Amino acid sequence: MLKYDILQGMQKKILVLVDFKSSSKKKLVRYLNANAKNKYKAFLHSFTDLYFDIKTGKTKIKVNKTDIANFDLVFVRRAGKYVRFMGAISKYLDKKKIKFVDPAFREIGMSMDKASSTLRLAIKRVPVPHTIFCFKENIIFNKKRIIQALGLPIIAKAILSQRNQNIYILKTEEDFAILVKKSSREFIFQKFIDIEKEYRFLIMGEKVMVLEQKFKRNYENLKVEYQDLTGPSVFLELDCATQNANKISLRAAAILGLDVAGVDLAIEKITRKVYIIEVNKGPGIEPDAKTSPELKAFSDYLLNRIS
Ligand SMILES: Nc1ncnc2c1ncn2[C@@H]1O[C@H](COP(=O)(O)OP(=O)(O)O)[C@@H](O)[C@H]1O
Ligand SMILES: [Mg+2]
Repeated sequence: MLKYDILQGMQKKILVLVDFKSSSKKKLVRYLNANAKNKYKAFLHSFTDLYFDIKTGKTKIKVNKTDIANFDLVFVRRAGKYVRFMGAISKYLDKKKIKFVDPAFREIGMSMDKASSTLRLAIKRVPVPHTIFCFKENIIFNKKRIIQALGLPIIAKAILSQRNQNIYILKTEEDFAILVKKSSREFIFQKFIDIEKEYRFLIMGEKVMVLEQKFKRNYENLKVEYQDLTGPSVFLELDCATQNANKISLRAAAILGLDVAGVDLAIEKITRKVYIIEVNKGPGIEPDAKTSPELKAFSDYLLNRIS
């Protein structure tokens, strides 16, 4: 018995990750374990078992309750429709120095969905609101855990949408069920930041080119909306932003490999902490040089690039 325990302690662990736990994949893992010669134990999990706890400098990707960094090898047997997340997952595994199959996942090109980009920023210690991501199949199962981690209210954002289309505020546990019923999208869940001021930094070629003040959002209903849709954009002098905010927004764009980016940055009431809310690739611009400095910024940037 004792010998067995010692062996168990030394035994290596392999995480076999699949899009779907089919009977053939179960058979594979059974066979692997039967022939592992006590050298390892393989555990079969589907992507939907993953739970991403995204916190600046303290990010963990877990399979149920276990950090995937506790495995000795991650074998992605089939990623299927989850392949877009492998870019960010491979960044995490590299950071934790965990081997994975197949290293080619490093080359698949980065998805700019909100879960992947928030994770990549948090790993590099960029301040982002504490964020949790799990797949839609497990949102209800995880809701208590999410509430415990973030506290209510919680901001829910569809990971693949833009321009305030799919931002919600969950004020009660019941709101999770309403959200899941309303939308079949994948969501991240984020700690609510009481925003004092919010800015959009338009970054081009490692420089802040335009600074815009963003309007306050209306958090009264489930769906978060603009308070005033009619108001004109407010552009500020570049020196209105602190050096720290400038530096963080430039770093966020650089980490995501973007030369041109629209970085949303918020300053929290009371604490005055700075948070990166979002980094947009291909940021929208107002196509009117009379009211907006954005066209000129693009033109200056390209002139600079080409010369
Ligand atoms: N964690 C948060 N706490 C409070 N407000 C938020 C939070 N995240 C986003 N918001 C508000 O919602 C707006 C839209 O969110 P954002 O992540 O930029 O998504 P998108 O612009 O793609 O719709 C932000 O500009 C901000 O005003
Ligand atoms: Mg935004």
